[in-house]
Amino acid sequence: MNCSPPSPPSPLPGSERSCWSLPEDWAFLNPGSFGLRLREVQAARADLLARWEAQPVDFIERASLALYDSSLHRTASFVGADADGFGFVSNATEAIDAVLARHAFRGGDILLGDQAYGAVAAASAWVTRGSGAGRVRKVSVDLPAVSADAIVAAWQDALEKGGVDLAIVDHVTSCTALIQPAAEIVSACRERGVPVLVDGAHAPGMLDLDVAAIDADWYAGNLHKWIGAPAGAGFLWTAPQHRDRTRPLALSHDANEGYAEAFRWQGTRDFTPWLVVPTAIEAIEKRWGWSRLRAWQRDMTRWAGREVASALGTCVADGTGGGLTGAMVSVRLPESHQRGFTDCVALRDHLAATYRVEVAIDDTPGQWWLRLSLGPWARPADVHRLVEALAATGSPARR
Ligand SMILES: Cc1ncc(COP(=O)(O)O)c(C=O)c1O
Repeated sequence: MNCSPPSPPSPLPGSERSCWSLPEDWAFLNPGSFGLRLREVQAARADLLARWEAQPVDFIERASLALYDSSLHRTASFVGADADGFGFVSNATEAIDAVLARHAFRGGDILLGDQAYGAVAAASAWVTRGSGAGRVRKVSVDLPAVSADAIVAAWQDALEKGGVDLAIVDHVTSCTALIQPAAEIVSACRERGVPVLVDGAHAPGMLDLDVAAIDADWYAGNLHKWIGAPAGAGFLWTAPQHRDRTRPLALSHDANEGYAEAFRWQGTRDFTPWLVVPTAIEAIEKRWGWSRLRAWQRDMTRWAGREVASALGTCVADGTGGGLTGAMVSVRLPESHQRGFTDCVALRDHLAATYRVEVAIDDTPGQWWLRLSLGPWARPADVHRLVEALAATGSPARR
């Protein structure tokens, strides 16, 4: 099945660059890392910071309380989570570490996908030192991924071996940009009594998310990537049976109160990004509508992935023809593009410095992948510029 559209979709109305602070000279094809904020979102954050600085006690102790409650309810409902189990944190890393830090390990392993985000693998390895956890074990998924069922089967095989104390499943993988069948993997974990944390760093906004329906024990998400909230906005949703024991990393006054109270105050920190999330959600709803934006991103991404893969003579990581692709796509880099670079960061920085093209480049063991992510400002010309930059880069004589 090949669902890649033959031509790129027309630009969304009202998506000119001036809606963001993006300079004209960049082909910016990596909002997947840190998002990109619309100007109205930047303005809302600046306004809150100005109020904070005008009278910090009045803002923090009084004015922000109602804003916090309404933001929490709006954000939880947008991602399909109940507000009682929803806690804001700074980012997905903090959410995942909060679970790892307090999980009751009993000598069993931590099971991760072999494409798990490097920081999550590192934190998991750290936790196995002296916490009672066994070791980090990886589930291998062949690339290109041929089907959602094949991913589930790989997890089932790994779970079959037993001895797992905690599974951490990516909803959307970082390096390979695959939308994974999270609910089915969670169900396989549940059948074997394995608690499961879904790493949804890339899912909120990119997917029409229904956290409750996935039925995990915990769900960690980022709001700065695909919702376009300021950096510093993430969340940890926790299933009812774990709410007594799950707490943010920073324990403060209300640590011994309920789940919601413990997350509400995590010591003095800049929580204005949490308060701006509804502005970011409404901004996109008002400009394009979420489902229209998602459909555009999916079509643009599938088209762009095919263009770049065919120019390089390689393939995309999603071998289903687009069924596992959302707003990002990863293209395998041939050997010719690895030669002469010490690592993938060096190649990424070369493309940025020489061609003003920003993409993510990462490796699964032994294989480099170039990840394109497409925000509404992206145009076919940006993708063609990347193709030209890669053509020049792949030829050592011209480098
Ligand atoms: C799959 C995945 N998990 C976790 C993270 C960590 O996100 P953050 O750095 O915002 O905490 C990322 C970041 O891109 C990611 O892609």
